[in-house]
Amino acid sequence: MTAELLNGREIAKSYREGLAQEVEKLKSVGITPNLTVVIVGNDGASLSYVRSKNKAAEKIGMTSDIIHLGADITESELLDTIDGLNNADEVNGILVQVPLPEQISEEKVLEAIAPHKDVDGFHPMNIGRLYTGQQTFTPCTPLGIMELLKHTGSLEGKDVAVIGRSHIVGQPVAKLLTDQHATVTLMHSRTKDIVEKLKTFDIIVSAVGRPGLVTGEHLKEGAIVIDVGNTVVDEKLVGDVDFESAKEVASFITPVPGGVGPMTITMVLNNTLLAAKWHNG
Ligand code: GUN
Repeated sequence: MTAELLNGREIAKSYREGLAQEVEKLKSVGITPNLTVVIVGNDGASLSYVRSKNKAAEKIGMTSDIIHLGADITESELLDTIDGLNNADEVNGILVQVPLPEQISEEKVLEAIAPHKDVDGFHPMNIGRLYTGQQTFTPCTPLGIMELLKHTGSLEGKDVAVIGRSHIVGQPVAKLLTDQHATVTLMHSRTKDIVEKLKTFDIIVSAVGRPGLVTGEHLKEGAIVIDVGNTVVDEKLVGDVDFESAKEVASFITPVPGGVGPMTITMVLNNTLLAAKWHNG
């Protein structure tokens, strides 16, 4: 079998066309959604992500600002910046790119963002809302993965292995999959014999950043493979899955790059649109 490609670039493009129409509607009643991204320091990969988010927002008709702060900024200076954005009426979505320099507590910063502008969905209030089934901002990578999976059919009754238990990806995606009536096994660094266990699973979501972890040999025939890994090796972005061998066994597979990545950015835009709508009643 040769798997069907879950082409994140194409799926993201058509999703963004829908968002652009919604932005147009809001603009016609005088509301222009704004995404403001804060970046601290000069990490090349982070700067590049931030610019992509900014450009993608502008492309669908939103306004977007980047606040670029020096790596030596103090925690209280950053908290003051966030306070200013929380109180700025024209700012709908605030995203502080992580990781942050070590003198700054990520926890404090993420908690300082007003929950109604937290388009990453990282604020503890929003995480609590997610787990109690209330209206909230769902973290962008898990939301993007769920959108990709819509193109593969129903998730009801499917056995899913999620590899990686981060707060940003593994745990929330396990929750969203469970909501769609899948049965989820959450695997992590202390799980014994991870890859040997994969053969029984209908869907594999790998989010650990270990290139080559999952190969075709580990998969059940017809499995769906979502590769969330994004590790830079020899200046190239690579996932957790050996694409060449996996695509011979899988029914659907995401490439890296061009799979989950474009969907994550799209969901930042989705959440910014929601923020603008919710704020304006
Ligand atoms: N750094 C890597 N991924 C993300 C993300 O989704 N949001 C933020 N704020 N920072 C990140």
